[in-house]
Amino acid sequence: MATIPNIPAGRLPQLLARMPKAELHIHIEGSLEPELIFEMSRRNGVAIPYASVDELRRAYAFTNLQSFLDIYYAGASVLLKEQDFYDMAMAYLKRAQADNVVHAELFFDPQTHTARGVAMETVINGLHRATVDGAKQLGVDASLILCFLRHLSEQDAFETLEQALPWRDKFIGVGLDSSEVGHPPEKFAKVYARCRELGLHLVAHAGEEGPPAYVWTALDLLKVERIDHGVQSTKDPELVKRLARDRIPLTVCPLSNLKLCVFPKLEMHNIPQLLEAGLVATVNSDDPAYFGGYMNENFVQTFAATGMGAREAYQLAKNSFDASFVDAAAKRRYTDRLDEAFANA
Ligand code: HPA
Ligand code: ZN
Repeated sequence: MATIPNIPAGRLPQLLARMPKAELHIHIEGSLEPELIFEMSRRNGVAIPYASVDELRRAYAFTNLQSFLDIYYAGASVLLKEQDFYDMAMAYLKRAQADNVVHAELFFDPQTHTARGVAMETVINGLHRATVDGAKQLGVDASLILCFLRHLSEQDAFETLEQALPWRDKFIGVGLDSSEVGHPPEKFAKVYARCRELGLHLVAHAGEEGPPAYVWTALDLLKVERIDHGVQSTKDPELVKRLARDRIPLTVCPLSNLKLCVFPKLEMHNIPQLLEAGLVATVNSDDPAYFGGYMNENFVQTFAATGMGAREAYQLAKNSFDASFVDAAAKRRYTDRLDEAFANA
């Protein structure tokens, strides 16, 4: 581990911005900025119930997860053609590069699109082509994780998996997202068992708004390798011990938690507590176009609010590489770059 330099608080934002990092919790549909929604609405002839970019942005005042999801699915309705998926992902990868994100694992929600008659092939090919060009043109490595919508049935998830299998080489794993409360992980136990047999990586949203029990069943019944969010885990000390013992990463999204009222203020976010308990916590943007910030904004605002310093910055960036689904050699290369950034800070 690098020697952590003493960084005065005033220079911390620059270090946070410059350090290389991985983003492991980003819904690519949540990176669709209002300007791009309007452009695609025009070019595809899909009407949206907002008169202007400003009016749409003003609607981004959320009270909980569901109030966000309603607008998020409306925004995604303008995506029709392979080029739309490509443009959305390329726009994100450019923002990632600007924030020194060197590796990203992108969630996508195929059911949001196939339900509107968009072919699975259109979705996956557009996103995948962007990841190929993003690596070549921007130096950002990215891979795809297919998410099942948990408000839909397990049967629907099975059908989605079947539709995606011809493109099995273009995604590395599966996740579970959408409305959490009332849709516990165990609802998807069979489809996750099948994904495990297929050698896919497994993650699931749990403990964003839902109780610690959902984190337990994501671990024990779905056998996930990472928990997305997981911030409710601190309500159960036995669960915190389990997450620490098994080094199960949590992909935490501070500005998302603030905007969806999971914490009333960023000052009250429990990410310092998660690190203190020895958990492999990471910082991520979730749906940056909706929650007011990409990666560096999440880091800078969270550090300013909680008083974390250079040691925690190093730990969070190191955790992001450790928690990623790249091989050991790539983890080492990324960590070497991180050490170099701290040595030169
Ligand atoms: N939680 C659940 N589902 C989602 C989210 C989230 O934060 N973002 C996009 N889909
Ligand atoms: Zn999420």
